[in-house]
Amino acid sequence: MTDASGKVVLDVGAGTGNLAPLLPADAEYMAIDIDAARIRSLERKCPGARCMVGSALDTGLEDDAADWSVCNGLAHHLEDEDVPRLIAELARVTRERLVFVEPLWPGKHLINGVLWRYDRGSHPRPESTLLSALRAHFEIDSVERFWPSQEVMLCVARPIKQHDAPTATAGASDDAPAGQSRSVAA
Ligand SMILES: C[S@@+](CC[C@H](N)C(=O)[O-])C[C@H]1O[C@@H](n2cnc3c(N)ncnc32)[C@H](O)[C@@H]1O
Repeated sequence: MTDASGKVVLDVGAGTGNLAPLLPADAEYMAIDIDAARIRSLERKCPGARCMVGSALDTGLEDDAADWSVCNGLAHHLEDEDVPRLIAELARVTRERLVFVEPLWPGKHLINGVLWRYDRGSHPRPESTLLSALRAHFEIDSVERFWPSQEVMLCVARPIKQHDAPTATAGASDDAPAGQSRSVAA
């Protein structure tokens, strides 16, 4: 995030603002979260931030409100039908770049599966499903996987604006429809 210098950065599902300390001092930080208590805590930590209580599915922000958007750990809190709405809203409000970070469906990883039982989000999805949903509105620049405590995908992407690509379509070769989650046995 160090090259966000001078950028307006929107943190979608910001929680208590863990992103803020990673941004350069001259970045303008905007944060939205559905949980008012978390936003109040964020406001105390980051007095200069523009903070909003609201849904990531309908932010109320103007088109291209942010140069960059970051969406870290939000999608697995959403039902399948809401994931395409999230991605469309991210593309609408983002001018240049999306950083999308999401823990992945555990598949056959036993430890990862156990960790999911302690996570408040209940809709882990495979990487291919998330990328398929993203491709409906974004050009994917890079995808990385890492494992801080459970397997996580970090995707950097550019929004496809209607005037740029009138024929943009969702990715076709993935193993599940856009936005579809896999369930984890309790
Ligand atoms: C796992 S936390 C991640 C917080 C933060 N992004 C971070 O990395 O520390 C998920 C956050 O998404 C928020 N959230 C869940 N559903 C949301 C929605 N529909 N709109 C906005 N925020 C939402 C939750 O309130 C929570 O703060």
